[in-house]
Amino acid sequence: MWKGSAGSLRSRVTRERLLSNFSVAKDIKLSKTGLVKLIATSTFGLEAVVKRELEALGFTDYVTADGRIEFDASFDDIPRLNISLRTADRVLLKIAKFPAADFDQLFDGTSAVPWEEWIPKDAMITVTGKCVRSVLMSVRACQSIVKKALVERLMARLATSDLPETGPEFIVEIAITKDVATITLDSSGAGLHKRGYRLDKGEAPIRETMAAALVLLSFWDRDRILMDPMCGAGTILIEAAMIGRNIAPGLNRSFAAEAWPQIDKKAWEDARQAAQAAILPEGGLSIFGSDIDPERIKDSKANAQRAGVGKDITFEQKDIKDLWIDRQYGVIISNPPYGMHIGSLKELTEIYVTLNKMLKNKSGWSLYFLTPDQRFPDFFKRGKPDKVRKLFNANIEVNYYQYFGERPPRAEKS
Ligand SMILES: C[S@@+](CC[C@H](N)C(=O)[O-])C[C@H]1O[C@@H](n2cnc3c(N)ncnc32)[C@H](O)[C@@H]1O
Repeated sequence: MWKGSAGSLRSRVTRERLLSNFSVAKDIKLSKTGLVKLIATSTFGLEAVVKRELEALGFTDYVTADGRIEFDASFDDIPRLNISLRTADRVLLKIAKFPAADFDQLFDGTSAVPWEEWIPKDAMITVTGKCVRSVLMSVRACQSIVKKALVERLMARLATSDLPETGPEFIVEIAITKDVATITLDSSGAGLHKRGYRLDKGEAPIRETMAAALVLLSFWDRDRILMDPMCGAGTILIEAAMIGRNIAPGLNRSFAAEAWPQIDKKAWEDARQAAQAAILPEGGLSIFGSDIDPERIKDSKANAQRAGVGKDITFEQKDIKDLWIDRQYGVIISNPPYGMHIGSLKELTEIYVTLNKMLKNKSGWSLYFLTPDQRFPDFFKRGKPDKVRKLFNANIEVNYYQYFGERPPRAEKS
């Protein structure tokens, strides 16, 4: 809860300084009917995949920086984007951009934002932050300056000395890069990887957004066989099945922007109804998962069920060494254990050797393998990888090794 003097803002910030510092922010239109600037954030290395998703949703003209893709949209696009994007972490609304080489500039620029149009009186206000290559490098100090400026402005404009913070959470992000501050409001709330189908236990499950990206970066499509022989929580296969059936990843969760008064409830209802209507019926997918650990198979089945794709994937407890491929064409997407414990290098090597044997004479099979272990290509001897993409999984640098198999003849499903 914030209590204080509603008049203190005026005494701290002169009108002239407000205007000069707000000059960069003036190009950001915040009218309900006009365009707004949105920023889709992503894991480093996935920007191109997010961009492709945005293009498919009809957006154009992006400005891309590390992990941030900025584009024009309307308010009513916010529900559709949150519900549909598979590989983005969050959707942020850009509120202001201004120079912030010192705390005064940061305070004044923040004070110039019409917060009273955005944040209701009872909002619980959380300020997150990051500073990159800037004079202001103390994230905590910047967060508290922004919160103070914001709260003082709100109290002044709402003519109150009491902000109880008992209502919905509003997450404000302050990002300072090269002494320029960008202020955004987080429309997603919980990260978009939280689809709601996974209970998160077991060994190193991959993020849902990363799993979706691995599928979208592959040449798999719903007419082809897909396997993950070390499926863990089943994430890669579940994301693939959702892509195959056109199930929007955010259909079964809520978003921070549902509390924003600027977005009609109807826009959320319409977006959910449209996503629901676009779902393809079950049946028709050939997706198979296995894992040596019976507990992981139990989890996978339960996760797939919760995601609405329980009947689209066949799971089986099996050591990869006992797997046998009898089809001519197919796709494997997998991420093996990362080998952080003693003895694991030997286990990993055995897995690589097994994969090599399994796919040796299977030129119709593609392999997509995500691992930080750079020894992998030495063991998978079918040839050099056709592509290697550097990605970050849980902050670990990993390589996505891609070996393209021959494509099946058109009519044959595999
Ligand atoms: C990094 S986790 C995979 C995570 C998975 N992508 C997910 O989303 O949960 C690696 C998995 O490989 C499995 N595994 C380890 N050795 C195996 C083997 N010889 N055969 C099959 N699965 C194995 C482990 O039980 C573990 O679930």
